[in-house]
Amino acid sequence: MPDFTPRVFSGIQPSGGLTLGNYLGAMKRFVDMQNDGAYETIYCMVDLHAITTWQDPAKLVAATRELCAGFIATGIDPEKSILFNQSQVAEHAQLGWIFSCVARMGWMQRMTQWKDKAGKNAQNASLGLFGYPALMAADILIYHATHVPVGEDQKQHLELTRDIAIKFNNDYGVEFFPVTEPVIEGAATRVMSLRDGSKKMSKSDPSDASRINLTDDADAIAQKIRKARTDPKPLPSDLEGLEDRPEARNLVNIYAALADTSPEAVIRDHAGQQFSTFKPSLADLAVAKLAPISTEMQRLTADPAEIDRLLARGAQRARALAEPVLKRTYEIVGMVGA
Ligand code: TRP
Repeated sequence: MPDFTPRVFSGIQPSGGLTLGNYLGAMKRFVDMQNDGAYETIYCMVDLHAITTWQDPAKLVAATRELCAGFIATGIDPEKSILFNQSQVAEHAQLGWIFSCVARMGWMQRMTQWKDKAGKNAQNASLGLFGYPALMAADILIYHATHVPVGEDQKQHLELTRDIAIKFNNDYGVEFFPVTEPVIEGAATRVMSLRDGSKKMSKSDPSDASRINLTDDADAIAQKIRKARTDPKPLPSDLEGLEDRPEARNLVNIYAALADTSPEAVIRDHAGQQFSTFKPSLADLAVAKLAPISTEMQRLTADPAEIDRLLARGAQRARALAEPVLKRTYEIVGMVGA
């Protein structure tokens, strides 16, 4: 294999309503990788993926801009990273088509996300939903990205991306696409509902008290943490003591992630504390870290023209990387005029 530049790519669907879960589970790590200095970083709002199930057009526009504001407010610097929305870089869809011809029906049929989302009604799901992972592989490989930070739920899609790269290289006798490394987030960054420690924090939970939105102000953040569901016991002195205490475990995890430390260290510092003591500390920490993000999001979303300008500029930079890769792919495959 030739040497590939260390390059990070990740994408988030613009589905509206960013939560603490998005921040700690994905965006914070994207920012760390940006600031690490070891990689080029490319972050994408995957609007073409969003329409694999029908989206209200006006809401999709708003959600894409909101997601862009979220990226910037949480620390993505649109100069340091390339930040853009997928549909502005046509090469994603073009390479996605080539990969649809490389991937096999059987591979797609095995995807657990397909099975979950299509459910019993697969005949009525869109062809795009079925082919989703081929487009995702194209998102990554059009930049020859070497590292892809994603949640556990995307692991199978990344394995498929590797299979597509390997099969393409094999079928055409080239060493053109890299075999990408997944960078899977650990369970510790999985943020659970504040009302039910067994459920993931979600923007679609009917109870707003179950989540912290990145647009919540300081009062709302503090109040939701003070009201978070817990059990009556004090904090234990080691992590094992949190087994079977999902709500307590979740608050400790959130504390650790926000303080940039480990759950072990949080337990060490707060061993034996009652939640009446621990929650106010967590609320202070959360307000200190999250209230500035929410203020910044409000400022950014108030100026959609500026967001659109940033996205157009990001797309231009992305295109400069994607164009030669698509051209070479077309040549390899045998397209006249490539
Ligand atoms: N499928 C991812 C998700 O739902 C989003 C996504 C699309 C993505 N393309 C990607 C993630 C490329 C990483 C790399 O979370």
